[in-house]
Amino acid sequence: MIYDNHGRPITYLRLAVTDRCNLRCFYCMPEEGIKYLHKSKLLSYEEMLRIVSVLAELGVHKVRITGGEPFVRNNLIDFLYRLADIHGIDELNITTNGILTGQYLKQMKEIGIRSVNLSLDTLDSQRFFEITRRDEFSKVYQTLFDLLDAGFEVKINAVVMDGKNTDDILPLVALTEHYPVAVRFIEEMPFNGEGSHYPVLHWNINRILDTIRAAYPSLSKIKDAPHSTSYNYHVPGFKGNIGVIAAFSRTFCGTCNRIRMTAQGELKTCLYDEGVLSIRDLIRSGISNEELKGIFINTFQQRAKDGFEAESRRTKLVTESMTTIGG
Ligand code: GTP
Ligand code: 5AD
Ligand code: SF4
Repeated sequence: MIYDNHGRPITYLRLAVTDRCNLRCFYCMPEEGIKYLHKSKLLSYEEMLRIVSVLAELGVHKVRITGGEPFVRNNLIDFLYRLADIHGIDELNITTNGILTGQYLKQMKEIGIRSVNLSLDTLDSQRFFEITRRDEFSKVYQTLFDLLDAGFEVKINAVVMDGKNTDDILPLVALTEHYPVAVRFIEEMPFNGEGSHYPVLHWNINRILDTIRAAYPSLSKIKDAPHSTSYNYHVPGFKGNIGVIAAFSRTFCGTCNRIRMTAQGELKTCLYDEGVLSIRDLIRSGISNEELKGIFINTFQQRAKDGFEAESRRTKLVTESMTTIGG
């Protein structure tokens, strides 16, 4: 097990396999998309496998595949089979928008993926179109039920946006009555690839919870798993759970066990750093695995204690897109 300079174990890698996406969620990217990276700039699957093997030797045992939209990258499934085989990786999860996911459920089961986080901000197809700029609601909605039928643990990620989908809060909560799904409401973060989005938060965790409580007064707190990004709740008698990810108003830094690798191989030791090191360039310069391990160990000794505060988030415009930082 490896610890950072603040005594936090590093056990969880968020690996972005692409910066591309087949949706255009307005809080994430502009209509025209972002300037995508040339393929030669992306980590190859071989390079990713090597990086994960080295990290696994250092104690990383959980990998979440993110993007962009992971399934947009060619041959993702073949890569996942190989990734799951790496000694020490005992949990492999994926965050997806559900557009292409449905066709791979059988293989995902075989690979041993247990949990899928599905981005779904609304249950209304017109609003879905307005938010994602693509007319694909029915596909994603179907995928939700296919995932549940196939026995995956499913968490819905719904970013709460003032004037856009706040009418969806209660219908999304209602889903948890009959389905064993975790619906997680996320405070909108100031990343939309444009920098035009001044970070004023209209819907914080308290307002979201008050809205739910007004309709479901019996809403009760349940115990959060260690390192959970969400504060979790339950309506007694309902099959699923409700969570709120206070991504903007609270910090998770104290117990942060995660590092990130962007699609172009930048190591981020915090969501808020700009990438501390290009692992891609190191690998391409011919470094050995032992040397790479040493570099990881060193870099983890220089981790920000509280990158969230340091970013002075309330005053700064953030031009990066979630699709390049991998959430
Ligand atoms: P699990 O705990 O493994 O289910 O994953 P998760 O909730 O971290 O993953 P997911 O990819 O579904 O992300 C959900 C939301 O949490 C996204 O909006 C992420 O950007 C946000 N998030 C994830 N990690 C962090 C973090 O370290 N800090 C902040 N502020 N937000 C985060
Ligand atoms: N604020 C909060 N969450 C966001 N996501 C993407 N952009 C933002 C943002 N600006 C979420 C998506 C996806 C997860 C990986 O990140 O909803 O589920
Ligand atoms: Fe794509 Fe996810 Fe960004 Fe939406 S939030 S555009 S689904 S990467």
